[in-house]
Amino acid sequence: MERIYFDNGSTSFPKAPGVSDAVKSLLDNGAFNINRGGYEEAYAISEQVLETREMLCRMFDFGKPRNVVFTPSITYSLNYLIKGYLKEGDHVLCSSMEHNAVTRPLVQMEKRGVAFESVPCFEDGTMDPKEFEKMIRPETKAVIMSCASNVCGTMLPVKEVGRICHERGIAYIVDTAQIAGTFPISMKECHIDGLTFTGHKSLLGPQGVGGMLISDSLAKETEPLIAGGTGSVSHLEEMPDFMPDRFESGTMNLPGIIGLRAALLYHKGLKEGELARHELELAMRFLRGVEEIKGTRPVGLKTPENRAAIVSVDFVNDDNARVAFELESRYGIMTRVGLHCAPRAHKTLGTYPQGTVRFSFGGGNSLREVDFCLDALKKILEK
Ligand SMILES: Cc1ncc(COP(=O)(O)O)c(C=O)c1O
Repeated sequence: MERIYFDNGSTSFPKAPGVSDAVKSLLDNGAFNINRGGYEEAYAISEQVLETREMLCRMFDFGKPRNVVFTPSITYSLNYLIKGYLKEGDHVLCSSMEHNAVTRPLVQMEKRGVAFESVPCFEDGTMDPKEFEKMIRPETKAVIMSCASNVCGTMLPVKEVGRICHERGIAYIVDTAQIAGTFPISMKECHIDGLTFTGHKSLLGPQGVGGMLISDSLAKETEPLIAGGTGSVSHLEEMPDFMPDRFESGTMNLPGIIGLRAALLYHKGLKEGELARHELELAMRFLRGVEEIKGTRPVGLKTPENRAAIVSVDFVNDDNARVAFELESRYGIMTRVGLHCAPRAHKTLGTYPQGTVRFSFGGGNSLREVDFCLDALKKILEK
């Protein structure tokens, strides 16, 4: 049976051309530790790691490659910033569409005296920046918000919220998990102080590598959660205060970073907006098709503007888990069912507690696969 992968919101497949070769070549030829080995081979790898930081800076319109920090994933980056920056008495705002990578660390911080509130979004996942502005308090220290919902793809008003944060002197941290690589985002234009990313979703790199791009002031005010060897100023028992060493202790995930470098080179070679156009064409064809099938309730925006290529459907007369199971077992179509680690988003969209079946499209998918899936759904729902 043919297999069709519609779970790119979880992790992308296939990865960018060149990623697996780059990882294999590094491991085969010596993944020598950088910042430690004083030999030519290690310096050559250092150079590639620096290039990766520079490419990320270009992608996200940021001027400081040294302030690009590698972490195991966006979940780690968000934890580093949320737990390292916030203190007792601080107030934080996020949206009602966040992933647990934002809400769970915030709930943990609540127990340490940090107050947090989520700005209510509308039933299609959109947010009114004016509602957000009304919830700012004198003690609001940070806003932490995702660029696009991992449940339905709806984008949040990242630029408008950034402008308000900038005017009010509030630190602004964004989660780019569902857009990085596919949709452009500028740290400068959006006044972002901390941009977090994960390498394995739309960036098309391997798992186990993510990171954050942070302003000098955010870096200075954030306590490094993880301390250890950096290969620099080894006579000091305190963490270095310079970047990126302040936040990069321990041996780095070089295969992950070199794989991500190959993925970024691939993105560099694409025409602007090429990936987004293709993915949105698939998402819209699927959405239009699903809307015509009885017993379906697709959630989120119904037009291609301000959305990523994620379509979530509640099969109102059926068990969502059964539909997902039949799609996979009878037709080889891989999706994700449930709450997708974002319970607040489902409460906003009106799909809690049953969740949805999520179809998330990637560059490797085709219109033929979308049509095949729509046919399969019709047959499954006929019973
Ligand atoms: C919006 C959003 N934020 C954060 C994450 C967490 O990503 P990771 O598991 O790579 O840390 C995800 C993953 O699904 C996500 O969709």
